[in-house]
Order: sequence, then C-alpha cells, then structure tokens
Amino acid sequence: MKDFWKKQTKKGPLACLAPMDWYTDSAYRQIVKSVNPDVFCFTEFYSADWLVHSPFLKDQVLPHKKIEEPLIVQIFWKDPEMFAKAAKIIEQYNVAWIDVNMWCPAKKVVRSGHGSSLMINTDTAFKIIEELNKATKLPVSVKTRLWFNNDEDLIPFAKWLENAGASLLTVHGRTTAQAYTGKANFEPIYELKNHLNIPVIWNGDVINYDNWIAKLNNLDGFMIGRWSFWNPWCFLPNHYKPTLKEVLDMMLFHSKALEENKWEKRASLEIRKHLVQYLHSFPWVKEFRKELVTVESVEATHNIIEKIRWEYSDFLGEKLEDIKKASS
Ligand SMILES: Cc1cc2nc3c(=O)[nH]c(=O)nc-3n(C[C@H](O)[C@H](O)[C@H](O)COP(=O)(O)O)c2cc1C
Repeated sequence: MKDFWKKQTKKGPLACLAPMDWYTDSAYRQIVKSVNPDVFCFTEFYSADWLVHSPFLKDQVLPHKKIEEPLIVQIFWKDPEMFAKAAKIIEQYNVAWIDVNMWCPAKKVVRSGHGSSLMINTDTAFKIIEELNKATKLPVSVKTRLWFNNDEDLIPFAKWLENAGASLLTVHGRTTAQAYTGKANFEPIYELKNHLNIPVIWNGDVINYDNWIAKLNNLDGFMIGRWSFWNPWCFLPNHYKPTLKEVLDMMLFHSKALEENKWEKRASLEIRKHLVQYLHSFPWVKEFRKELVTVESVEATHNIIEKIRWEYSDFLGEKLEDIKKASS
C-alpha cells in the first residue's frame, strides 16, 4: 500500500486537482475526471474533529463515485490523536490516501493552531504524521507552503516530515505571510526535491497541463486549483479549448451531479457560481447572468442552457475563445 505512489509516478508526472473548500466536492471531482481520468482529485479540507464527531458530515462528504478514484481526503486540525481517529473513519471509504493541511494561511485557522501554523509548531506537525501512520495503512501526504515567513527552513522541515512517515509532499510556492500575493516561487521547491526521496508536487499559479510540463524540472507532479474554475479542460495537453457545446454540456453535467450529491436547495445555490464561471468569457453572458445566479433547480439550469443553445446554435461547434475574439 505504501508503494502506491511509486507505482503512479512511474506512469509520468502526477496531475492533481487541488483541495478547495466549497469547490472540490464530489460533483466537481466528477467533471474533472470526465475530462481526464488520470487526474488525482483532492477533496475540500475537512476538520478531523468534525469527521469524528459528526456522522452527518462524514456521510455527506466521504461517500463518492468510482470515477473520482483514486481519491485523496484532506483533513485539518491540530490534535494528533484526533487525526488518528479521523483516519480510522476515512479508511472505510475506499480512499487512496490522506492529506494533511499544513497550508491554510487564514488568520482564524492559524490562530487556532491549525493549517500552516503547523509549520512553526513543528513537534505537533511531526507527531500528527507519526500518529496517522500508526493509525492507518493508507499513505499520508502533506500540503504545505514555502515557509511561514520565509523559505529558509523548508528543507529541514520537509525532511523531518519524510522521516516522520509522510509519503508525498505538495508545496505551494508562497509563504503564509504572502497568502496569495506575489508570484509563486518554484526555485526552492526544485531545490527541496534534491533533498527528499518522496515525490514532491508543485502548486501555485499553474494555468494548465502544458504550462506545468514546461516547468516540470525534477518534480513529480503538479496541482491546479483556481485555473480549473470553469475549465476542467486545463488538465488536457495541447492547450485544449472547449467549444460552446462542450461548455454547455459540462454545465448541465455539473448541475446534475451536484443535485445527486446534495439536497436540491443547496445544490441550486452552489451551482450558481459555477454556471457564471463557465460562461465568463462568453460575450453575451450578460443576457443570462441574472437567471444564472438565481437558478433554483436542475430544471431551471437546464432551461437556461437550452435557451443559450437555441439562441446561439450557430456557435455551438466553435471554441468559446474564438467566439470571444470574433465578437470583440
Ligand atoms: C476557494 C478556494 C478554497 C481552497 N480550499 C483549500 C483547502 O480546503 N485546502 C487546501 O489545502 N487548500 C485550499 N485552497 C488552496 C488551493 O488548494 C491552492 O493551494 C491555491 O489555490 C493555489 O493554487 P492555484 O494557484 O493553482 O489556485 C483553496 C483555494 C481556493 C481558491
């Protein structure tokens, strides 16, 4: 089981969907996998404490479809024993491995000792990895940042994580202090890889598959977050650009998958932001925006999509990007 990674990395670089709260739920993962079945999907982050104490949350978020596998469940918290208890629950759901969030820079999260604050509470960080390894046979990975304030201690920190039993590391090319500001810096990650035996994945500002492959260097894979909004095709090579028809079909698929996974009211609230994002470069999106951000059901989503299909039938086979260029 612990060799799982090695087998995968022999196939070539790992393409990963980043964990994103309010995004990478079952429906989102399904749409990404429908485009590229080789992508490794991370869930949104879940509190280890909630997974242990809330049967409702556990039953909502851990069941998934076969198409989403291999699935990586990301958890956060600060108490090593709680991680161990959560691992026992997660391993019942055909999960590929468990990822620990040592990434989150949000003040509330950091102040309470979770997320990226584990980069400075290193004893707790290593204990978490050790306890997880004792509790489960599933591989354990960590998603982290260059460092809390600067990058000078990344190498020893990562080596300790490896020694504590981490099977893979994803490093975001910014510090906690930077949060999302500035550009992601990858030089320290290339350097880090020279000091580790485990796979190292790069995260931050990767636009698409080709963009990353060009910068692969000595790393083992990449993880895309925000650039997958409206664009699961970013996981395809050769700068794949979808046609209007493909985008409309994907919107419908996304909406149906969400409703299957969540109750209707919640699904229709959540799909709104995705619908607008899918069509963000469609020149005539304004005409539909109001309807898109107020949909109440899959049926309503379906109706809008059919309306766009009908009104712009001449453009269905054309790439959204070309439609935009032609209209400007
Ligand atoms: C809406 C949103 C939610 C996020 N939630 C999480 C999360 O739950 N866990 C995590 O490790 N990172 C989370 N992130 C960070 C992403 O995983 C990723 O590290 C970050 O967006 C940088 O990658 P990108 O430049 O490819 O977007 C989130 C990012 C966004 C935009």
